[in-house]
Amino acid sequence: MLQDEKYQEQIQRIFAKYPDKRSAVMPLLYLAQEAYGWLPEEALDEVAELCDIDPTQVKSIAGFYTMYRETPKGKYWLQVCTDLPCALRGADQFYEELKAYLEVEEGGTTEDGLFTVEHVMCLAACDRAPMLQCNFHYMENLDMDKMRAWIEERRAEAREKEQKS
Ligand code: FES
Repeated sequence: MLQDEKYQEQIQRIFAKYPDKRSAVMPLLYLAQEAYGWLPEEALDEVAELCDIDPTQVKSIAGFYTMYRETPKGKYWLQVCTDLPCALRGADQFYEELKAYLEVEEGGTTEDGLFTVEHVMCLAACDRAPMLQCNFHYMENLDMDKMRAWIEERRAEAREKEQKS
């Protein structure tokens, strides 16, 4: 997929920022993740080839950082912090209620493919709990009323998009 014409300019822009091709692994992994929605073996191989390094090295980098998706996820990847400081502000209960509302278990994805939910350790926003990271954006000072409204907005958007296509 990264061989597609539409990615060539972005790839060249990424390479231009680094003195060495190998240093571009992480931004290229982001690009591959954006293209595939997650990082299948094929994507890791493409990044390895682009950077001229061994695929196992790329795999270990992708496995080390939590922002890379090693399995398919929903459009909205909701990572709820349930670490102790957040738990003291109700994050555990919020997380349980969120899973129940979406009818998924830990790490599960909703049937419509929109939401994946999992819990994570500290995201450095402890004073704004309950909080979560949705893809790469923080949502803070949450409660289930706010969450339900936000989820239903995303569902409405998805329905509208589907009707237009
Ligand atoms: S403990 Fe949750 S953000 Fe720090």
